[in-house]
Amino acid sequence: MASLSATGTNLAWEPAVHERLTDRHGRRITDLRISITDRCNYRCVYCRAGSDGAVYADLPIEDYLRMARVFVALGIEKIRLTGGEPLLRRGLPELLRELSRLRTLDGAPLDLALTTNGHLLEGMAEELRNAGLSRITVSMDAVDPEKFARITRVPGSYGRVLAGIRAAKRAGLAPVKVNCVLLRGFNEDQIVRFAEFSRDEGVIVRFIEFMPLEEDRLWSPEAVVSLREITEALGTYRPVKALPPNAASETAVRYTFDDGVGEIGIIAPVTQAFCGHCSRVRLTSDGKIRTCLFSQTDHDLYGVMQRGGSDAEMAEFIRRTVDHKEARHHIGEPGFLKPSRSMVHIGG
Ligand code: 5AD
Repeated sequence: MASLSATGTNLAWEPAVHERLTDRHGRRITDLRISITDRCNYRCVYCRAGSDGAVYADLPIEDYLRMARVFVALGIEKIRLTGGEPLLRRGLPELLRELSRLRTLDGAPLDLALTTNGHLLEGMAEELRNAGLSRITVSMDAVDPEKFARITRVPGSYGRVLAGIRAAKRAGLAPVKVNCVLLRGFNEDQIVRFAEFSRDEGVIVRFIEFMPLEEDRLWSPEAVVSLREITEALGTYRPVKALPPNAASETAVRYTFDDGVGEIGIIAPVTQAFCGHCSRVRLTSDGKIRTCLFSQTDHDLYGVMQRGGSDAEMAEFIRRTVDHKEARHHIGEPGFLKPSRSMVHIGG
């Protein structure tokens, strides 16, 4: 892909160090998530509607790269590629190769991560690793083939995802993280199974509280399996031991067991919101900035670029948008409005 290499890593404009992205609440923004497609080969019940009415608006890979370069010049240190399902996206290895050439303002390589449903991972893990991917997170919502197929609405999905997780480990993408969204009535009986899975497979399992981001209207406070409930269930299996956070902006509360084998993270945006130390901003597959999963509006960075905006103009647009990042979300409060887009369009 010649057009990618031709863009190089140098920008025409040199940002000053004091321009590192921060918002008006004093949070440093260092973490960018880019959705590189909103297509997905799964139809998970907590995310998608049963039938596919989606209109896709994916951009050329080199356009995501240009926007990423401007973000990195403003202090982004970590990029996570998401979707939809990013492994469906043609040009993904080339994008990773180009992103891995970028350097943070401190001269370090970027932390390059990816979230996938794992369906196509077995055949791609090594290629992704060789292209510069540092880490991978695989979504998996049951340790049980039948239950898993009921959630994904794709037969045979469990075996493929398991093979994908193992291939990722072999390829050196360890520690592999496994994300499990808990939904009452579907999979809250899987908590202990996942604890065993973490210990047996040597992966970090992260339970995520269900957020109102789905296409259908499934969410209610009662559907959320809370952090407290999760730790109680884990405790019936073995005594749990808290682990210290890896970083201040860490979203997961981390645990291991009494013998130190296995790692469980709990991400509790509903019952223990972490907005106060949020370091994230998102770019949707159609090139719009979302400053919060629950934003009511997007900010059209791609529009600035399409109208011939320079890198410096794009940087100014990003800076102004990030400055207005919401203080926090309002899930569960009276008057809460569902976000303007669902997870499959925003990216996780
Ligand atoms: N609530 C919580 N997590 C969700 N995910 C998708 N939809 C929701 C939701 N409504 C998870 C996916 C994936 C990650 C990107 O976000 O399962 O692991």
